[in-house]
Amino acid sequence: MLEPQIFNLKVHSDGRGSLSAVESNIDAPFEIKRVYYMYGIPGGQVRGAHAHKELEQLVIAVAGSFEIVLDDGQSVVTTVLDDPAKALYVPKMNWRTLQNFSKDAVCLVLASALYDESDYYRNYEEYKSALNA
Ligand code: TYD
Repeated sequence: MLEPQIFNLKVHSDGRGSLSAVESNIDAPFEIKRVYYMYGIPGGQVRGAHAHKELEQLVIAVAGSFEIVLDDGQSVVTTVLDDPAKALYVPKMNWRTLQNFSKDAVCLVLASALYDESDYYRNYEEYKSALNA
């Protein structure tokens, strides 16, 4: 059974607000090579819907909320992300879909490699065949 791993980030709060940090190879279980973020996502839109051959990622709802559906080929688990102090680990070879974004959602992704289209499975059947190979 797939058990999504959530890392609880330290929250430094004082009268000025809150701050959380993610350090490469410390809070993230890999070297962070790339950061990207999605925002301004219209209601009902679905993002992701792909898997990666090698890429590992941490996903954080730095604002608002959304669901992330992870499928490792054996089971499918949906996690709600709505806390900027929680990071969901997305291992390689997990099909992942992001959905139900709130209007104000900002999805921050920390990734273990630079952007490389050849690392993607964008077709679910192709992904399943690779898992079973
Ligand atoms: P896409 O992979 O379609 O987003 P999603 O995660 O929702 O499937 O990416 C959208 C566009 O952004 C596409 O043209 C590729 C580009 N892109 C980059 O240039 N760099 C990146 O790091 C990422 C993740 C995407």
